[in-house]
Amino acid sequence: MIRTILTYPNPELKKKSAPVNIITEATRDLARDMSETMYDAPGVGLAAPQIGVHQRIIAIDVTGRDERPDLIVVINPVIVHAEGEAYEEEGCLSVPKYAANVRRHAHVVVKGLDLDGNEQTWRAEGLLAIAFQHEIDHLDGILFVDHLSPLKRDLFQRKIRKMAETAAGAP
Ligand code: NI
Repeated sequence: MIRTILTYPNPELKKKSAPVNIITEATRDLARDMSETMYDAPGVGLAAPQIGVHQRIIAIDVTGRDERPDLIVVINPVIVHAEGEAYEEEGCLSVPKYAANVRRHAHVVVKGLDLDGNEQTWRAEGLLAIAFQHEIDHLDGILFVDHLSPLKRDLFQRKIRKMAETAAGAP
């Protein structure tokens, strides 16, 4: 089922998500909804709080194609190692029509559980490494725009205000 993606500045996006203690059929249903919602958007990653569920679950498919072999779903993901620097343009399904360069690590090692509850390790670089960091941030209530310099953040907020005014029909 495709869920509604919450968008900035919805306060639900700022809340910290709780670890998943037990993986049930409901967890797998939620993960399926997350990937369907991500592919439909379309996007390359989605975290559960983006659909208003404050559980530590992320879905990533950097190919963006609904063919599933590249779909990664991680429960309770933790970055256990990070190195190098990246500075690439990012967007977010919760921050429509905005993109900006963000400083990230170039390589990460992520540990977490798969949908069968088995501990897995992912070693990522490039777009996948950035996606892991971006999605795990969501679980802590952090959006990519929170990483911008004060000047860029100010420009972003002005743009959002302008878009809201235009949508409301204000001059
Ligand atoms: Ni995002």
